[in-house]
Amino acid sequence: MNLAVNIDHIATLREARGGLEPDPVHAAVLAELAGASGIVCHLREDRRHVNDRDVRTLREVVTTKLDLEMAATTEIISIALDIVPDTVTLVPEKRQELTTEGGIDVAENRSFYSDVIGMFHNKGIAVSLFIEPDQTQVEASLECEADIVELHTGMYANARTRAEADVQLVRLRAASELAADSGLTVTAGHGLDLRNLAPLTTIRHIEEVSIGHALVCRAVYVGIGEAVREYLDCMRQGC
Ligand code: PXP
Repeated sequence: MNLAVNIDHIATLREARGGLEPDPVHAAVLAELAGASGIVCHLREDRRHVNDRDVRTLREVVTTKLDLEMAATTEIISIALDIVPDTVTLVPEKRQELTTEGGIDVAENRSFYSDVIGMFHNKGIAVSLFIEPDQTQVEASLECEADIVELHTGMYANARTRAEADVQLVRLRAASELAADSGLTVTAGHGLDLRNLAPLTTIRHIEEVSIGHALVCRAVYVGIGEAVREYLDCMRQGC
């Protein structure tokens, strides 16, 4: 299992003072040098953290894989088609939310997502859909010709008991099996940290996890390189 590092909250810290530091581009380089398999950033409509300059510079600098998380709005689609990240991850976006809440409803919006995916494929950009780990959403993603499904791990991460977490692991396992057997690449993310990551690594179809907030929090204490190494150790040897 690989680790993609979301650097949004490095930019959140920069925006707290509206200056230049810390620079998410520097963090991306350090994360890659420590073994991250990809860099993720979310260009939100309100530009609350990552901005257009960050995405353009990351496109030049990132040598592993740049995944642009985005809502499928006209403005952001046109920026993404211009910048050409390796992958785009389509997510729902609400202005008031603190972070991405829930997956997108592909099943109810098949023709919309199918058209959007077609636009990205014409530019050679792979498309990942951030969905709940449900059979209907996996099947709809396949029908729309997505390349990747990122399974939302929020309900797993927020489980209050071991039993609740186990129920969510069963859902994630079933959805990942269905997706992988259908030929989709499977990734997962949201709310993952050093306490809940190890059980997820037993789901063999999940090829990559995308981790942001908890890893950046850890980096405040130990540095970004060390935080990435701790997460990789946890994924490979348990934690
Ligand atoms: N994957 C997606 C699609 C997300 O929207 C987010 C949050 O930006 C993450 C992964 C990372 O979540 P967290 O910051 O909780 O690790």
